[in-house]
Amino acid sequence: MAGSALFRLTGAVLVCVIVGAAVQWCAEAQDGCMIVYYDMVPCFDYLSNGGSVSQDCCGGLQNVTAMVNNTASLQATCYCMINVAAINSTLAVGLPGNCSINLPYQLSPDADCSTLTYSSL
Ligand SMILES: *[C@@H]1O[C@H](CO)[C@@H](O)[C@H](O)[C@H]1NC(C)=O
Ligand SMILES: *[C@@H]1O[C@H](CO)[C@@H](O)[C@H](O)[C@H]1NC(C)=O
Ligand SMILES: *[C@@H]1O[C@H](CO)[C@@H](O)[C@H](O)[C@H]1NC(C)=O
Ligand SMILES: *[C@@H]1O[C@H](CO)[C@@H](O)[C@H](O)[C@H]1NC(C)=O
Repeated sequence: MAGSALFRLTGAVLVCVIVGAAVQWCAEAQDGCMIVYYDMVPCFDYLSNGGSVSQDCCGGLQNVTAMVNNTASLQATCYCMINVAAINSTLAVGLPGNCSINLPYQLSPDADCSTLTYSSL
């Protein structure tokens, strides 16, 4: 089964072609989210199909949290993660818990990124 995931972004669209469980190809995003999406690629299988969360996926999520070092980067990654969560919001909400990672925002298409401040971590 080949499928595709379409991320709509302000001024840019990222198209990923998913073949089986693997993301085969992603068009380049113009919005600075590419590193976040790259880190989250191992999670696409879980977010597309459910099942168990892989170690690679948790490692990718850990990487996304590790790249945050100020309020601007916290909000920026949060906005990127909204697009990741949109693949399947039900599965996304449970992802940080399955990885035992305390994400400072809800992994959800409805996350309120604008009110996040780094000092509140
Ligand atoms: C999200 O995942 C759940 C659990 O696998 C599934 O029941 C549901 O249909 C999925 N929703 C969408 C929109 O794909
Ligand atoms: C997370 O970061 C480590 C160290 O830089 C790297 O080896 C690993 O491939 C990254 N994981 C993902 C999913 O990008
Ligand atoms: C945050 O990390 C980025 C990239 O690693 C770095 O360029 C920047 O100087 C850092 N900012 C702060 C406030 O530490
Ligand atoms: C793990 O994800 C599932 C959905 O696949 C969710 O029902 C469960 O609550 C999550 N576990 C934790 C500890 O968050």
